[in-house]
Amino acid sequence: MAAHFAGKLFLYLHSNLHLMNKAFSRLFTFILITIFLSMFSCKHEPDDINPGDPNNPGDTTGLITCDPDTAYFKNDVMPIFQSHCAECHNETTSEHGLILTSYSNIINSDHIEVGNASESDIYEAITDTDPEDRMPFGRPPLSATEIATIRDWINQGARNNYCDSGCDTTVFTFAEAIEPMIDLNCKGCHNASVANDGVRLDTYEFIAEVAQNGRLMGAITHADGYAKMPYLGDKLSDCQITQVRKWIESEFNK
Ligand code: HEC
Ligand code: HEC
Repeated sequence: MAAHFAGKLFLYLHSNLHLMNKAFSRLFTFILITIFLSMFSCKHEPDDINPGDPNNPGDTTGLITCDPDTAYFKNDVMPIFQSHCAECHNETTSEHGLILTSYSNIINSDHIEVGNASESDIYEAITDTDPEDRMPFGRPPLSATEIATIRDWINQGARNNYCDSGCDTTVFTFAEAIEPMIDLNCKGCHNASVANDGVRLDTYEFIAEVAQNGRLMGAITHADGYAKMPYLGDKLSDCQITQVRKWIESEFNK
């Protein structure tokens, strides 16, 4: 738009050059050309230049190794919204007119102040000291780690970022692989206060039971006859599914 306008201005002034003396008009032409060119030269900035822009895909290549001090939207943040918020804030329910099912609707919700968690309604809602106002509504609060993840993500620019978690199919013990995966992706909807379908996934015993009767694999592989899990969310990665399969084959090692 600006470049288009500058072009018009340039043509207009150029056709009226006879009004100016020659030396001045050369200088003027030079300045206009410089401005004109500079408008194109700043187009190729790195993607991260525009944090919070829903059209900015951010680091989605998966080639970046996770930095422990960075909160990544796809790895760390979306699973929290999926497990703890999406149930009441999806396209159908949209409590308070708020939909929290994807990067673009979260960032466009008007409830995130990019770079400033303490001014963001979403952060205020999860840290509200009054249990009547705190989110998730009527449920236990998010853990301190989950709250810190959302805070850091907003403060670091609320980007749609992603990192290669280094998922390793040779690691499949409960403590190292299964428990952290289920904590992040499932526990918010399957615990003592919310047990969708009567399924609890908040202790080793409950998880082993659901694994033993085939429902765990059925749900995460989206097999026929099972509800597709995580509910409303992206399927777990092939690597994660392999970890679960190997854990089951290992007779549920701890
Ligand atoms: C069990 C249903 C339920 C869950 C789960 C839930 N919400 Fe809500 N949310 C509501 C309802 C109902 C309201 C409207 C409350 C009101 O108007 O007092 C609301 C309102 C909000 C508001 C606007 C109110 C404000 O204080 O600005 C925000 C932000 C919000 N929720 C964020 C979240 C987040 C983030 C999560 C997940 C951590 C979440 N909600 C989980 C039901 C839910
Ligand atoms: C946003 C909430 C939510 C999340 C997150 C979630 N679930 Fe569920 N889960 C549900 C609901 C709702 C049902 C019942 C669905 C139905 O009956 O259609 C369910 C049902 C199930 C069932 C029973 C399936 C069957 O057909 O027997 C299993 C097993 C299950 N979930 C496991 C998981 C696992 C494992 C994860 C994480 C990878 C997960 N869930 C994440 C809400 C959730």
